[in-house]
This record gives sequence, structure tokens and C-alpha cells, in this order.
Amino acid sequence: MATTTDTPPPSIPTTFCGLDLAHPVVNGSGTFDAIAAQAVFGDSFLDQFPFAAFVSKTITLAVRDGNPPPRLWETPSGMINSIGLPNKGLAGYLEHDLPKLAALPVPLITNVMGSTAAELCELVAACDAQDAIRAIELNVSCPNVKTGLDIGADPVSLAEVLRAVRPQTTKPLIVKLTPNTADVALVAAAAEAEGADAVALVNTLRATAQAPGGDGRPWLGGVTGGMSGPAIRAVALAQVTAVAQRVAIPVIGMGGIQRGEHAAQFLRAGATLVAVGTESFRDPAAGTRIARELQRLLAQTA
Ligand SMILES: Cc1cc2nc3c(=O)[nH]c(=O)nc-3n(C[C@H](O)[C@H](O)[C@H](O)COP(=O)(O)O)c2cc1C
Repeated sequence: MATTTDTPPPSIPTTFCGLDLAHPVVNGSGTFDAIAAQAVFGDSFLDQFPFAAFVSKTITLAVRDGNPPPRLWETPSGMINSIGLPNKGLAGYLEHDLPKLAALPVPLITNVMGSTAAELCELVAACDAQDAIRAIELNVSCPNVKTGLDIGADPVSLAEVLRAVRPQTTKPLIVKLTPNTADVALVAAAAEAEGADAVALVNTLRATAQAPGGDGRPWLGGVTGGMSGPAIRAVALAQVTAVAQRVAIPVIGMGGIQRGEHAAQFLRAGATLVAVGTESFRDPAAGTRIARELQRLLAQTA
């Protein structure tokens, strides 16, 4: 990772759900492995941690192996991933990952997903019991076992789940919305009405790719995946704008952010924080770079 020890860290003091952050740039869940980065870049990496808060990848109750390969497909200006949320499960996360993530120099947000309200309640209650976890993000891009629709695609289904989950924690509860729905602002309004402290969007857009060869076979082991990166930025900006106009709770905006100017556009659209996802695969220090560029832009327009 590029080191810039002589340059002061970016400073755009930001308050989000009671958390005091150095700047408004965080990571998108599942797109930055802080534990692997520390192993590769060493402990000095912690002094230049690229994000103002760290969002864990999605944790589920049981261990998940993820989808069969191939898991990635490059598209013009983006990629489709069909990783399938592999993770150690709640017990593995609490035992192995949490102690390491708790030592990061920024607040920890743990992202969880379940396919029933009962599963989500158990995950959220377990996170609530951990002092190191400062906020909980619900990934609601998961099919409801009763309807088969993603919980977050349907405001009624999401409201039902949140009525059970909200009382399980006093920590800030962020609902990470799916863009794969008819009216994302309606879903955001349902989340707000049921006590969400913030919403985050966009998750990836459902997409697929055919294998080279012309016989129409799907390339991805999981058949469909989620599209991310610059190709989805305009869609994300439209959805963040619509949601920020609809709800009074803070919004975390993401989708294809690569530069400070993109982050500024999401903030102008009404986001309080922005998240960087796919860009971190190209540039692991993208969070710091984007925050610096944003700070320069804000200074010019002040
Ligand atoms: C490889 C990969 C893994 C992801 N894993 C998760 C995840 O575990 N949980 C989640 O809520 N979102 C996950 N996402 C979605 C991102 O957090 C983000 O919402 C999305 O990629 C849009 O931002 P971007 O265009 O900057 O990547 C993942 C995205 C990618 C590309």
C-alpha cells in the first residue's frame, strides 16, 4: 500500500448515529478484508487505515462455503460477483475475527444477514452483547423463506422483520437496502418507520454473464451475481437521491465511487457517509485517497 506518512490524515469531522468519525468515507461490506490487509501490509497499516469506520463482510448464523466457482466476471466499467457470502458463521466471527477487528483504529460496524426474523434476531442480539461492535448493519438482500422474495425488496416483509429485530439492540441499526426493487424509497421509508437508525445503499444490482463459446451456458457458478463498480454509479446516485429525499434518518451512499468528486456527488444528493467498494480492489488505499480528494473539494467550495 502506498505510504504517505508525511501527509496528515484526511480530516472532515463527521458524526454518524452518535459515532464521531474523522471523515465520511467507509468501506462497502465485503469489499475490504482488514485482517488480510494487516497481515500483508503489517501493523503500520493501522496508522494509515483507509476508512473512517470499518464495515465487516456479511456474517450469517451458520458457516457458509459460498458459491461454486467461477465467482467473478468483468463487465465494461464494473464486475459481477457471485461470491455467495462465504463466512465463518456467527460463532467463528465472534471467536476469530472480532478480537482482530476490535483492534482496528476506527469504529466497527458488523453486517449480518438471515433469511428469517428469528435468525436475524439471534444475530443482532449477539452483536448487541459485544462492546467492540459500535453499530449493526442488516443486509436484507436475502430471500424471505416464506415469500421467496428478497426481504429488502418488499416494504411489508422488511417492516415485519424489523418489528422483531429492532428491540434486540440499542446500538445504531443500519438497514442496507437492495437496489433490486420497484421503489427503493418506499422500502427506506418502511425501514425508518420501524426504527432503523440509518439506511445504506446500494447493494449490487442482479446480473448474469454467459460463458465464452456461444452455447448460452452461464459463466458464474451461482448463475446470477451482483454487479458493482463505476457502471452502476448513475443508478446508485438516483436511488440515493430518492431515498435521501424520502427519509430523515442518515443515508450511507455507495455504488461505483472512485474519486473524491464522486463522493461529493453522493453527499450533495443527501448522503451523510459514502462507502467505497469495488475501487478498493484496484487501490487498497482508495478510502484515504478519496477522503483527501473530497477534503480538497470541500475546501475549494467553502
Ligand atoms: C466482491 C464483493 C463482495 C461483496 N460482499 C458484500 C457483503 O458481504 N455484504 C454486503 O452487504 N454487500 C456486499 N457487497 C456489496 C458492496 O458492499 C457494495 O454495496 C456494492 O459493491 C456497491 O458498491 P461499489 O460499486 O463501490 O462496489 C459486495 C460487493 C463486492 C464487489
